Amino acid sequence: MSHEPDRRTQLTQDLQRVVALAVLAPSSHNAQPWRFHIGGGFVELRADRLRALPVVDPDDRELTIACGCALLNLRVALRAEGFDSVVTRLPSPSERSLLARVDVRPGSPPTADERRLCEAIVTRHTAFAPYSTVTVADEIVARLGNDAALEGVRFHALGSEAQRVALVSLVMEADHRQWSDPRFRRELAEWTRSNDSDARDGVPGNAVGLDNVASHLARFTTRVLDKGTNTALHDRDLADASPLLAVLATSGDTPLDWLCAGEGLGRVLLRAEVEGLAVAFLNPPVEVPELRTEVDRLCGEGSTSQIALRIGYGPAGIGTPRRPVADVLDDGPAGSA
Ligand SMILES: Cc1cc2nc3c(=O)[nH]c(=O)nc-3n(C[C@H](O)[C@H](O)[C@H](O)COP(=O)(O)O)c2cc1C
Repeated sequence: MSHEPDRRTQLTQDLQRVVALAVLAPSSHNAQPWRFHIGGGFVELRADRLRALPVVDPDDRELTIACGCALLNLRVALRAEGFDSVVTRLPSPSERSLLARVDVRPGSPPTADERRLCEAIVTRHTAFAPYSTVTVADEIVARLGNDAALEGVRFHALGSEAQRVALVSLVMEADHRQWSDPRFRRELAEWTRSNDSDARDGVPGNAVGLDNVASHLARFTTRVLDKGTNTALHDRDLADASPLLAVLATSGDTPLDWLCAGEGLGRVLLRAEVEGLAVAFLNPPVEVPELRTEVDRLCGEGSTSQIALRIGYGPAGIGTPRRPVADVLDDGPAGSA
């Protein structure tokens, strides 16, 4: 009797487990803009543009970065299961939403480091609280840089006080500009959730430190109030208290660069988790085109900024919900989505 069907069922179950780890990736407003198709020995990753954020991310740049993080999680989870993968990025010029095809084959057993990175997928959360002033050792900064480089991404640690001050003032300026736009506030409010919400996407108040009452009011106040000044001051305090500010950058600014930036970001976030570091995003200035060129300048010649981070030691984030895996899986033949 052939064992082929059993083997295929086993592989499909393995790949579903791997996708369940991929969806723990971070995404802007926790929109989770991805879909997966599991075929016979491969996984396809598609952008879910119904979950785009047209105001804050009109070109789907951050959407593609988030999908890149999910792709990195997928690759790390495959290795932890003892699989090797061959990734074809943007395999189909006629289907722009197909971001990657990952062909899976048996590989060597995972190393201890590969296992640790995979465990970090589950425990990693954006850590929105303030950090202590304990500095991040140079060798750990170098390790984060190496991980970004493995994915072809540059990790620019802002070493001088002048660079830090410049980034913080760009964050504050971006906060003012974004919050003064009612369309930005409306979009953010749509993804703002109360602490007792049943929604499996969006950002609940408790993830960003709001109590139950404040979390119920947040959706309304976000929509109607320009909180630019308070947000700018809050972000300034958070950034000032963070021992390490860093910008992830690429050499170009195409969808392929965005996907790779996401893979680099994903690997840096997992490495940071392994090292016991807390990480949060300072992305507003990268989201405002005129300010983004200033962030590019902080990185130096030939760098295009993609993500700004604050990094340090502090309370772990509590995490945000995810949709069940069944909600992100497309069945049917490859390419039917
Ligand atoms: C591309 C990208 C941009 C983001 N930008 C911001 C940001 O500017 N400010 C912020 O507080 N969080 C930002 N986030 C973090 C998300 O809010 C967070 O990942 C999401 O809520 C899911 O939570 P988790 O990271 O704990 O899983 C960003 C995440 C990604 C992937």
